[in-house]
Amino acid sequence: MSYLEKKSVAIGVGGGIAVYKVCELARQLMKRGANVRVVMTRNAQEFVAPLTFQALTGNPVLTDLFDPQQDATFGHLVTGKLADLFIVAPATANLIARIRAGMADDVVTTSLLAATCPILIAPAMNTAMWENPITQGNLQALLADARYRVVGPAAGALAEKTEGMGRLSEPPDIVEAAEACLAPQDLKGWKVLVTAGPTREHLDPVRYLSNPSSGRMGFAIARAAAQRGAQVTLVSGPSELRAPAGVHLVKITSAQEMADATLSRLPGSQLFVAAAAVADQRPEKRAGQKVKKQEGPETQVLVRTPDILASAAAAVAGDGPHRPLLVGFAAETERVVEQAREKLRRKQVDLIAANDVTRIDAGFAVDTNRLTLVDCTGRTQELPCQSKSDAADALLVRAGQLRRELGLIG
Ligand code: CTP
Repeated sequence: MSYLEKKSVAIGVGGGIAVYKVCELARQLMKRGANVRVVMTRNAQEFVAPLTFQALTGNPVLTDLFDPQQDATFGHLVTGKLADLFIVAPATANLIARIRAGMADDVVTTSLLAATCPILIAPAMNTAMWENPITQGNLQALLADARYRVVGPAAGALAEKTEGMGRLSEPPDIVEAAEACLAPQDLKGWKVLVTAGPTREHLDPVRYLSNPSSGRMGFAIARAAAQRGAQVTLVSGPSELRAPAGVHLVKITSAQEMADATLSRLPGSQLFVAAAAVADQRPEKRAGQKVKKQEGPETQVLVRTPDILASAAAAVAGDGPHRPLLVGFAAETERVVEQAREKLRRKQVDLIAANDVTRIDAGFAVDTNRLTLVDCTGRTQELPCQSKSDAADALLVRAGQLRRELGLIG
C-alpha cells in the first residue's frame, strides 16, 4: 500500500517551463490513491492551462484569490488546511523567496501560508539562480523548519540549452519524496545496510558468470527503510534500477567488491539485509585479455566467492546487544521452510526471508513476491503475495519487532 492512498495532496504550481512535468506528477500521485488539488500562480498559467489540471485531477483548480465563484468556500484557506501534504512544483526562485518571506500575495503563497501540513519543495530554475546565495539562503531558512522538505533539483539539460543543476526532479522522484513525507518515521536513527542485485564474476574483460537478479527486492527494502527515516546504504551489483531517493548507492561488480564494500560499512548499523543474489563461484583466474577459442575441451576452474552474509554474522558475533539484526534471503525450489531454517542456522543470522522461485509470482525479475519469514525465535510467518514494496515494508516491521524481542540496542 502507498502512503499516498486516500491522502489529500495539494500542488502549488509555480511559473516555469517544468510545469508540463507537473501534469504527469499529478497523474502519478492519483495513481497511488491521492486526491489531488492544484493551485496555480498567474505565471504557471502562461505555461499550462488550468483546465489541463482540472481534467487530470477531477477537481477545480484555484487560480485567483479574487474570483468570487472560485473562492466562495475560502478555497485559498481550505486547500492548505485540508491537505495532508503540500507540494510546490516547480518551485521557482521567486516562489521560494516569497514563501520564505511569509508573503500571501497570490493564491499559491496564501494557500501555503495557511497550510499546517508538511510542505515538499521541488525547485526548478536556471543554474545561476539555483546557486545564488540568496536562493540557497531562502531554502535553508525554510528547511530549518521540520515541516519543509526539498526534493532535487536534478542536474541535466536545462531549457536554455545548457547543462547544469536546476532541473525539476522527475515525477517518480517527487512521488517517492512525497511518500517519505507521509511515511511513519519509525526507523529514524537507524543505519540500514542492504545488498542487492547480481554480482558478475569476470573470466575475461568481456565474459562473466552471473544470474538474472534485477535488484528489485533489495532496492525496495532500501527505499522503504529510507522513507521510514533510516539512513540507508545500498551496495548493489549491476542493475537498471534508479537509486531510491535519499539512499546512498554504492555500485560494485564482483562478489569480492560487494564483500569489501559491505563489511567495511557494517559497524554501527542497526540492520543488515542481504538481498543480493551473489554469484557463489568465480573463475579462478581472470584473463587480462579476451580469451580466444581453442581446439579440444575448454575448461574453467571455479572457486567459491566469499559468503557476505555469513562473514557479516561472524564479524558482529562479539558485539552483544549492540550488533545489527541480520537478515538474509533464501531462493529455494523445494522444502522452502526447512531449507530456510537450515540456512538460518548455517549462516548464523536472525531472520531469513524465503521464497519459492519456481512460482511465477515470486523471485527473480518480477514485481511481486511471496515471502515466508523464518526467524531465530522459531517463528514462521507466511506473507501473502504482494508487491515487492509491500513485502519490503512487512519485512522491516518484522525486523523491528525482532530487534526488540532479541534485546538488541543502540
Ligand atoms: N549470500 C551472501 N554471499 C554469498 C552468497 C549468498 O551474502 N556469497 C546471501 C544472499 O544475499 C542471501 C543468502 O546469503 O541473503 C542466501 O543465499 P543463497 O544463495 O540462497 O544461499 P547459499 O548459501 O548460496 O546456499 P545454497 O546455494 O546452497 O542454497
